[in-house]
Amino acid sequence: MNIKRQIKLLVMKIQITSLIIMGLLLAANTESASDNTKSTKTKITETSVSKSIFGQMPDGRQVYQYTLVNTNGMIVKLINYGATVTELHVPDKKGNFADVVLGFDNLEQYLGQHPYFGATVGRVANRIAKGKFTLDGKTYTLATNDGPNHLHGGIKGFNRVLWDSEPIVGPGLAAVKFTYLSPDGEEGYPGNLSVTVVYMLTDQNELKIEYFATTDKPTIVNLTHHGYFNLAGKGDILGHEIMIAADNYTPVDETLIPTGEIKPVKNTPMDFTKPMTIGSRIDQLKGNPGGYDHNYVLNSGGKNLTLAVRVKEPKSGRVMELYTTEPGIQFYTGNFLDGSIKGKYNTVYKKHAGFCVEADHFPDSANKTNFPSIVLRPGQTYHQLTVHKFLTE
Ligand code: BGC
Repeated sequence: MNIKRQIKLLVMKIQITSLIIMGLLLAANTESASDNTKSTKTKITETSVSKSIFGQMPDGRQVYQYTLVNTNGMIVKLINYGATVTELHVPDKKGNFADVVLGFDNLEQYLGQHPYFGATVGRVANRIAKGKFTLDGKTYTLATNDGPNHLHGGIKGFNRVLWDSEPIVGPGLAAVKFTYLSPDGEEGYPGNLSVTVVYMLTDQNELKIEYFATTDKPTIVNLTHHGYFNLAGKGDILGHEIMIAADNYTPVDETLIPTGEIKPVKNTPMDFTKPMTIGSRIDQLKGNPGGYDHNYVLNSGGKNLTLAVRVKEPKSGRVMELYTTEPGIQFYTGNFLDGSIKGKYNTVYKKHAGFCVEADHFPDSANKTNFPSIVLRPGQTYHQLTVHKFLTE
């Protein structure tokens, strides 16, 4: 064997040996990785938050997805575009999990047109008549994006902005804190508004949403979470039983602006003071496209955290209770869903595929002096706490 060949063989041996060593190292790493996985598994039974990239905004900014997991295996996924809940997996009475919210599995669809699936809505949720309001003698004109009216914060509401986001983990708590500075004049609203929304998953199977906002000029604020729920995880929601702790509601005109009256629900299809299926009297409601799309005046009057809504899906036994510090609930039965949107799991969202129970102040409060005020002044802090608690029975 010539010297060249011997050297070549030696180099090959060294290479093979180092490959074996690398392999061993890798194996060791893999072992420690699988140990990690084990410990991650043990961690999964502890509350945790993980972060991944969900997509990119047209201007190149990253959109993140956070996965919150609690010790019962309940999972909440959120993205910082619109501070949106994209998935919510809860168990049924047999322990089988289902994703109980409508939404998408990709950013492109969230960037496109959709009816606020899972989003944080603001600066003012629901409608403001003709997009106008007067505060301290000055009349403001807002963007109109729902016929003649302003809806859910306008053309580019808080559901269409990229929020700053930060994960938070504590004992028995996994959370994401979203912050957004809405500039003075955005969508026509006065004042720089600094908003914080924290979505928290607890070991008691609660999704808690806490909101704070401050301003440097008098303005109006009314934030809400716009989740569409379906506790069966499929089909329509007409068989869900719902209780709403409200003896009164605010009737609306044909453009869904409250007339200003506060009317009793008693002896009407609006009465859910005792649990009734959503579908039991829905056909008695007039209007096009029909269905519930009304603000309920909660008996609690707002302020203290009180049970406002209880919904049960009888087959799965899944129950959602909603507690809130807000005075109203917008009960919306997905009436405008018409089968034109295909969401996660290739599901086509037909009419009544989900229901919303939006905790907030009443629609058009900015123009109704008899409704609880949504005015926020410098030095004051807007605060709302709403809890969605999941259980089975
Ligand atoms: C409103 C509906 C609206 C829906 C989606 C609900 O909060 O009450 O009228 O169609 O949001 O935009």
